[in-house]
Amino acid sequence: MHTLLSSKWLASKWTKAVLFLLCLGPLAAIIWPFVRGYTIPNPLEFIQHATGDWTLRFLVITLSITPLRQLLRLPELIRFRRMFGLFAFFYACLHFTTYLWFDKVFDVHEIWKDVYKRSFITVGFLAFTLLIPLAITSTAGWIRRLGGRRWRILHRAIYISAGW
Ligand code: HEM
Repeated sequence: MHTLLSSKWLASKWTKAVLFLLCLGPLAAIIWPFVRGYTIPNPLEFIQHATGDWTLRFLVITLSITPLRQLLRLPELIRFRRMFGLFAFFYACLHFTTYLWFDKVFDVHEIWKDVYKRSFITVGFLAFTLLIPLAITSTAGWIRRLGGRRWRILHRAIYISAGW
């Protein structure tokens, strides 16, 4: 009964829509203080850290879907995995854009120096680069074209991104 009820609830299109809006919550929370004109001592650091934290959180949420499906016996959870993964990529893009635009103002020389010298930037850069093919190939068309098996192998790269 419990499973039946929750399965029905999880299969509803409304659940997905509500979750989608909830996933936009962190973005709203980042923008809100600026809209209200609150004093933020270090706006760059605030955005860089908030977007970085949420990228990592969404990667962890995405990775926890498969074990949770088995643990809770709720196979329907699969419906949300791609959405969470793409939100991880969305926040990673914001995180990276913050760095490129607000921190380095697209100064290629400065960026190259950073990638070379500061190891966490090197690692972040690699992790982000790995997520790009995953986001591109997340559509049904790409999964079909690659074939299920090859797609799964490619998407295991998320473990490397999250691990870093
Ligand atoms: C999958 C990719 C990435 C993840 C999961 C990630 C995650 C994080 C996290 C969790 C933080 C710390 C936030 C905090 O302290 O609250 C952070 C900080 C930061 N990240 Fe990333 N990051 C990624 C990619 C990148 C990339 C590509 C760049 C730039 C090339 C970058 C640049 C930075 C910078 C500059 C900071 C601030 C460090 C500081 O203020 O000390 N990250 N990131």
